[in-house]
Amino acid sequence: MLKTFALEEFAPVPEERGPLAAPPAGALDAAAQARLDRLYEALKRRAAHMLGYPTNFDFDYRELERFFAFSMNNVGDPFEDTLYSVNTHEFEREAIDFFAQLYHIQKPNYWGYVTQGGTEGNMYGLYLAREVCPNGVVYFSEDTHYSVMKIVHVLNLKHIVVRSQKNGEMDYGDFADMLRLNRDKPVIALANIGTTMKGAVDDLGKIRQALHDNAIHHSYIHCDAALFGMTLPFIKDAPAFDFAAGADSIAVSGHKFIGMPTPSGVVIAKRHNVERVKAAIEYIGASDTTIAGSRNGLSSLMLWRAIQALGRKGFEAQVKACLNMADYALARLAEIGWPAWVNPYSNIVVLDRPPREIIRKWQLAVKDDFAHLIMMPHVSKAKIDAFMRDLRRVCPAPEPMPRRSAA
Ligand SMILES: Cc1ncc(COP(=O)(O)O)c(C=O)c1O
Repeated sequence: MLKTFALEEFAPVPEERGPLAAPPAGALDAAAQARLDRLYEALKRRAAHMLGYPTNFDFDYRELERFFAFSMNNVGDPFEDTLYSVNTHEFEREAIDFFAQLYHIQKPNYWGYVTQGGTEGNMYGLYLAREVCPNGVVYFSEDTHYSVMKIVHVLNLKHIVVRSQKNGEMDYGDFADMLRLNRDKPVIALANIGTTMKGAVDDLGKIRQALHDNAIHHSYIHCDAALFGMTLPFIKDAPAFDFAAGADSIAVSGHKFIGMPTPSGVVIAKRHNVERVKAAIEYIGASDTTIAGSRNGLSSLMLWRAIQALGRKGFEAQVKACLNMADYALARLAEIGWPAWVNPYSNIVVLDRPPREIIRKWQLAVKDDFAHLIMMPHVSKAKIDAFMRDLRRVCPAPEPMPRRSAA
């Protein structure tokens, strides 16, 4: 019979090079070193001019530098033992627990993992939806992030693009019309909890009402909460998108509102659905429940650290500051008559498309005739003021334009 040993029973392995040994001397020549120096300076400059993408640059994980000495790989299911144990599963689980509490689902009814970003979380949610609703049709609005179209192709899912309202929110009338035409098929609804460009939030109550009105009993709702998954829970009276409100899975990005040097995300789903797609893989001695095989152990550690350091109160204060900054940016734009507006509960300021030099310098995402500024924790009044000075310089005497609203 196989005897199992506790780790302490093994003799320590003598190490020729400690895990923290310095790299071999002379690893980089002067030219390569100079290139790194130039890159560093360029990144510093570019990061200082980031106004258009939902990435928070206000973070500090230097305390975790010593962990660079390990190849931390969170391969496998974070809720199970794996043979590869140089991992941070314990910290990953605690990060998941934080989001589960935020999204109102109790232990042991949820399962989740730290992904490589919002796209992987959406892919996991739609993969699960496909297994739960075979032959289901995915519905999402035309304002949905481009990753979702890619995902439905990869997963070979039938899909219907629903019209959006002008503010970027799903057109629920069009959604109901589409449902009526396909009543024989299970429904997989992808709700945008903050659209990429306009920061619009799809209403889970209205989506569920349309399902009910059309007597659709077999359905699944996945929430793409890439950015707002970390803002709405901290805003009083903000629309609910959590499990209590009807979500079956939720994906959120880690590098967006929380901020970190590498992309990451979290996906959370109902455990009983996950159990249906679980497969055991002997090679890693674990259940292969995640989309990625090898997974970044450092990002779980960084998420955990941010959660420990800030907690709910800290995040709440950051969100409040971002919403105030959106008001400030709106007021500054109004001073020069530059058309701009913000959806309720949003930190995304939508504005008429500025000239190309401004778009490039401030790294603004653009679509058709508009662009946006995203108020993340690193955005200060000084940054908005600098942006406004540039805008004024390039457009010294803008024609006063009528203020436009989303409605
Ligand atoms: C609404 C939305 N969903 C999904 C994504 C994709 O997230 P990621 O870039 O983390 O994969 C984004 C990215 O901006 C987004 O805005």
